Amino acid sequence: MYRLPKLIGFPHRRPDDYYKELQERPGWKDLDGEVAMDVGCGSGRNSTINILKYYPKVEKLIAIDNYTPSIYFATSTNTQPKIEYRSADIEDRSTLVEWEGKISKIFSTNCFTHVDPENAFGNVHYLLKPGGEAIITFVSKSQYYDIFLDVILRKEFRQYSAVYAYPLWSTNLPKC
Ligand SMILES: C[S@@+](CC[C@H](N)C(=O)[O-])C[C@H]1O[C@@H](n2cnc3c(N)ncnc32)[C@H](O)[C@@H]1O
Repeated sequence: MYRLPKLIGFPHRRPDDYYKELQERPGWKDLDGEVAMDVGCGSGRNSTINILKYYPKVEKLIAIDNYTPSIYFATSTNTQPKIEYRSADIEDRSTLVEWEGKISKIFSTNCFTHVDPENAFGNVHYLLKPGGEAIITFVSKSQYYDIFLDVILRKEFRQYSAVYAYPLWSTNLPKC
């Protein structure tokens, strides 16, 4: 079993402020020579490229996403020598085996909103080296989601919920 680390709430910030503040935390100054991972990297344009901008001394930044077209896109558009884009699912341990216990820092920006948290947090622990740490940011409250849920819960839109609602939401949606 894994132990939940201390949770720190960040109010919404511009990405630059967020990375600058992160660098002030012990162990997160420059990640010199460390192997880091970006979980749910998408196109790489936001989180992955920004991580490398603030942490150019990392030895390697492995950027994973379970949506393979994003990985193809990222590889062809947002590539840099230290970044390795790979298709893998943070909920499916069998796709993560090669990195077991090898990652010293994990970043994940706005991905955990979409996953089964127990599974995903367990796999974060599985990937981290002893003493490794993760920074996981996700939206906990947003008017956008409130409005979205309000719409998707209406009978006439319910048929689209499987397509447009993310898995966690659809599991939690009350039956109508
Ligand atoms: C809102 S996007 C964020 C992308 C990027 N981190 C950014 O900051 O722009 C969420 C990403 O998480 C990915 N994702 C969702 N579930 C995932 C999973 N189980 N494993 C890996 N990636 C996942 C999605 O494919 C999507 O690219």
